[in-house]
Amino acid sequence: MPILILKRAEYMINIVLFGAPGCGKGTQAQRLKEHYGIEHVSTGEVIRDEIHRGTELGRSMESYIAQGKLAPDEIVIGMIANYVAAHKEAKGCIFDGFPRTTVQAEAFDKILAENGLQVDMMIDIQVPEEELVKRILLRGKDSGRADDASEEVIRARLNVYHKQTAIVSEYYTAQDKYASVDGLGTMDEVFERIATVVDALK
Ligand code: AP5
Ligand code: MG
Repeated sequence: MPILILKRAEYMINIVLFGAPGCGKGTQAQRLKEHYGIEHVSTGEVIRDEIHRGTELGRSMESYIAQGKLAPDEIVIGMIANYVAAHKEAKGCIFDGFPRTTVQAEAFDKILAENGLQVDMMIDIQVPEEELVKRILLRGKDSGRADDASEEVIRARLNVYHKQTAIVSEYYTAQDKYASVDGLGTMDEVFERIATVVDALK
């Protein structure tokens, strides 16, 4: 039995993929998932799926998303708690867009610990603001995402990121689990930078 625990500790990788709207979290998470054979969960996607399916939970979050505001902590924390409990046997996971507040980060540590898990590293993808706006406006032409539709909402999302989310990096810095990568360049170049950080964890 101790051998089994040792093996899991050796191979588990739990990454928090962090950064402002449009920095490339979803794009890079998909690549990391394929490369390392780990899971990927985006709280934004889970919320959009709830909205799309017209669930009660989805309806309760629709206006937050459309205005570019954060959904309530307790709802998002509950979603992640369910996800972690259902995937604790996975080889690892990329958490994309979660945690986004210090309250979420603290709750996340508790949820993971209850399942015998932990965050290995937060990787912050850094991209200048005007490039973010450019990328999201371009995607908004056909993404169908309510929060991509106008520059006003995109700027509101960026504001929320600066005011409520950016500080979460300090939580992981204090645990010596923070790395930042340059998010400019081709998607392959950005992937190589992130993979260098992940490989150093193994
Ligand atoms: P979420 O879905 O997480 O959106 P976001 O953080 O605003 O980020 P995006 O998904 O828009 O961008 P991304 O970083 O994934 O970049 P992507 O790879 O798509 O959250 C949406 C909403 O849900 C929030 O506003 C909030 O309301 C709610 N929510 C979610 N999580 C929550 C939480 N924890 N707590 C409370 N509320 C929560 O790339 C963007 C574009 O750029 C794409 O078109 C892509 O093709 C392109 N691109 C990517 N890389 C490059 C590159 N290297 N060069 C050029 N273009 C690139
Ligand atoms: Mg995304």
